[in-house]
Amino acid sequence: MYLESTSSDRSVGKRALAGKGGGLPEDSANSVRDSQLLGTYGRMLDRSRGGSMPENARLQLNGNTYELPVTVGTEGEHAVDISKLRDESGYITLDDGYSNTGSCKSTITFIDGERGILRYRGIPIEQLAEKSTFLETAWLLIYGELPTPQQLECWSALFTQYEMIHEGLYHHFDGFPAYGHPMAILSAMINADSCYEPEMIEVESPATFQRAAARLMSKIRTIAAAAYKTSIGQPIVYPKPHLDYCSNFLHMMFSIPFRDFEPDPDQVAALQLILILHADHEQNCSTSTVRMVASSGANLYASCAAGVCALWGPLHGGANAAVIEMLQRLHDNKVDLKGYIARVKEKDSKERLMGFGHRVYKNYDPRAKIIKEVADKVVGNLKRADPLLEIAKKLEDVALSDPYFVERKLYPNVDFYSGITLRAMGLPVNMFPVMFAMGRLPGWIANWKEVREVKSHLYRPRQVYIGKNARDYTPLEERRTELVSAVPELKDPVSEYSALS
Ligand code: ACO
Repeated sequence: MYLESTSSDRSVGKRALAGKGGGLPEDSANSVRDSQLLGTYGRMLDRSRGGSMPENARLQLNGNTYELPVTVGTEGEHAVDISKLRDESGYITLDDGYSNTGSCKSTITFIDGERGILRYRGIPIEQLAEKSTFLETAWLLIYGELPTPQQLECWSALFTQYEMIHEGLYHHFDGFPAYGHPMAILSAMINADSCYEPEMIEVESPATFQRAAARLMSKIRTIAAAAYKTSIGQPIVYPKPHLDYCSNFLHMMFSIPFRDFEPDPDQVAALQLILILHADHEQNCSTSTVRMVASSGANLYASCAAGVCALWGPLHGGANAAVIEMLQRLHDNKVDLKGYIARVKEKDSKERLMGFGHRVYKNYDPRAKIIKEVADKVVGNLKRADPLLEIAKKLEDVALSDPYFVERKLYPNVDFYSGITLRAMGLPVNMFPVMFAMGRLPGWIANWKEVREVKSHLYRPRQVYIGKNARDYTPLEERRTELVSAVPELKDPVSEYSALS
């Protein structure tokens, strides 16, 4: 098999690569530096700056040549389009974990992981973090443009209109045990909520979609706070219409009857920032899940509930909680940090330095830079210093000067400091992924809408089967243990199962 590409001058690519608004630097000194920094990817971009851009790729396979068109995105990203490959050749491509696979074309979020760039609808995350609000950013993600003052006012009014959850839904909380994980409760309640307004499921007009989007975003914070109150045995607190999105959430989390919680403005600002930073991140695990579910025609609620489940895993939305658990362990056991770093580097180590590394960013996560300053401020406002922040800073210093992390381009990701900030606000660790879900919801909604609008195909990847070849069914009496040895033997499965149930 052989893959080559043909070339031609493509001014559209050159224009995109010239890098307006935070794109690529143009002078050659920077170009050389970038190229060294970015390795193969940088060299490819440099070549394309020279004017010759690949037009088609040619795949040679078993004596046949297949022309594969090259697609170029508006930021100069190149993709070999293999959508007709199986029809024409009978072959599929194999990309375990999808690191080299573009699953869709999207206009929502741009990430350049090598350069640490993140933009929502073209606007750099740094500008949104400084100037925008979560509701405004959500509108931008969902509709593609910043809202006009009137649109923002209506959008905000919808959030107030939908902030309560149906009284019937409150009874569901009684059915969960106090130790139920809030992520399990959140995904269940998002689906349950859809039963109370069935017309929101069909989303037949732009107006219904807008209401459904605002309704879901507004109610998720009421559900999240109610899940927390249930878990600590306190009465559920109702939302207050005059409060902004984040203050209202903190009120429902921390007010108790006859004693209203007055949130610190720095904490409100920090929470808003965390939500903005998490609002979208192109085709990450949970967003791809939302798109996958949406592609079957599933409604907004079902698709976003699936997103919550995908986000729950420790390698994705559970990482901020895992960071705190790691820091707490290091603190409680007075672990030597250099020794710990040595341990995570071992080839067969089961431990990883949580909050470090990213599938896409091979440079400092731009969100981590922003959140680090906020963590310092919120923690600085606490009456006492947080020893975990000190450990986090030391760990970062040790790791960033260690060739293992430098060579593998493992930098702190957004979770490294967001956990510390949420902890300083008094949020319990099991609520951290819930905060992530609240933040990511606009991104999920925007992606759900995009799947609907482009009338996407049903997402249905293929596989390379490596299991047993065709064989006959063995009757029960002929089966022997050595033939089914792949199944682990439990000592006393019946009592083990009954102990679990
Ligand atoms: N600590 C120690 N070593 C690491 C770490 C880490 N956190 N992350 C990656 N590595 C090492 C791997 O052992 C591997 O080493 P090798 O080349 O010697 O085998 C190399 O770096 C590449 O690792 P991969 O797992 O192939 O990288 P991948 O891109 O698949 O993983 C991931 C990304 C899952 C985020 C990983 O870096 C990780 O587990 N980090 C810790 C968990 C975490 O913080 N997750 C949050 C992600 S951000 C988010 O979802 C918001």
